[in-house]
Amino acid sequence: MKLAIVGAGTIGRGWAALGVAHGWDVTLFDTDARTLEAAVDETGRRARALVQLGRADAAQVELGLARLGRGRSLLHACGQADWVVEAVGEDLHLKQRVFENLDQLARPDAILSSSSSSLPITEISSRCRSQTRCVVTHPLNPPELIPLIEIVPGKFTAPETVERVRDWLRQLDRIPIALKREVPGNVVGRIAAAVWRECIDLVLTGVVDVDEIDRAVSLGPGLGWAAGGPHLTYHLGAGDRGVGAFIQQLMQAFETWWGSLAQWTKLEPEQVRALTSQIERAYGDKIEALHASRDRRLAAILHALESSRRA
Ligand SMILES: NC(=O)c1ccc[n+]([C@@H]2O[C@H](COP(=O)([O-])OP(=O)(O)OC[C@H]3O[C@@H](n4cnc5c(N)ncnc54)[C@H](O)[C@@H]3O)[C@@H](O)[C@H]2O)c1
Repeated sequence: MKLAIVGAGTIGRGWAALGVAHGWDVTLFDTDARTLEAAVDETGRRARALVQLGRADAAQVELGLARLGRGRSLLHACGQADWVVEAVGEDLHLKQRVFENLDQLARPDAILSSSSSSLPITEISSRCRSQTRCVVTHPLNPPELIPLIEIVPGKFTAPETVERVRDWLRQLDRIPIALKREVPGNVVGRIAAAVWRECIDLVLTGVVDVDEIDRAVSLGPGLGWAAGGPHLTYHLGAGDRGVGAFIQQLMQAFETWWGSLAQWTKLEPEQVRALTSQIERAYGDKIEALHASRDRRLAAILHALESSRRA
C-alpha cells in the first residue's frame, strides 16, 4: 500500500507514524525542506514510541521505517500513491491549491483525502476535475494513538471513495465513523467546542481552577464516555427503566442547565491572556514530558478498552 502525506507538521507526522507502524510504503512531502527532515526524524521517534506503548510491532515499524521516503516534489511524493492524505495548514485557499495540483499529479484511481478539522471537502476540492475521489478523513491528535477517524463526504464524493478509505482505515486499526453530510467542525470538533466553551467559562468566571476542571472532565463525563457515549450513559441512568424514565426524571434539570450555559462565540484578548496564563500556571512548560505521560495514559486506556471487548 502506497501512502503519500502532503504537509509534514503535527498531523502529517502522526499519519506517517501510523502508516510506518503498519509496514506501509509511506512518502512524506512538505514545501519546507527543514520541516521535512525534522518530520522524518520525528516520524521514526513516534513510530518507535508506539512499540514501547504496546501499540505496534517492532518488526513492522522497522520495515515501515526502511520504506519511509521524502518527496522531492509533489509529483515525486504522490505520482504513484494509492492514497494521498493532505495535512497542510487549515487554510481553504491553500488546500484548494494543493488539491488542484494533486488532482493533476496523482494517479487517476488514487483517493485524495484531507485531514481538515473544519473545512468542507466540497469547497476544498472545488477546483478538481474529479471531486468523486475526494473526501475528508479527520483524525484526532495524536493520529497514531487515537483510533477514531471521521470520514466526511462532500456533495460529489462517490460512495466507493468512502468505502475504500473506510477499508484502509480499518487496515490501519482505526475506528472510522462516516458522517452523512458536512457540518462545520465535523462531529468531534463541535462536541469539543461545546464542552471547551463551558470549561473556559467556568474557569474565567472563577467557579473552578484549570487543573480541577480538567480532572472533572477526565474523571467525570470523559471516563463515562470512554466506556459508552452520552446516550448509552443516560439509557443506563435510571436503573433498569431505560432512557424514557431518565428523561422524565431529569429533562427539566437539563433544560434549566442548558438555559444557563455559556453562549458567547468570541473571547476578548484579555480573556485569552487570562486563560493562557492560568493553563501555563497549571501545567508549566515541560511540554515534552506532558506529551509522553498523556500518550502513556492514552495507550493504557486503549489497552483496557480492547481487553474488556475481548473478555
Ligand atoms: N493539530 C491538530 O490537533 C489537528 C487535529 C486534527 C486535524 N488537524 C488538521 O490537520 C491539518 C494540519 O494541521 P497541523 O496541526 O498538522 O498543521 P501544521 O501547521 O503543524 O503543519 C502544516 C504543514 O504543512 C506544510 N505546508 C504548507 N503548505 C504546503 C504545501 N503547499 N505543500 C506541502 N506542505 C505544505 C507546512 O510547512 C507545515 O509543515 C489541518 O487541516 C488541521 O485542521 C489538526
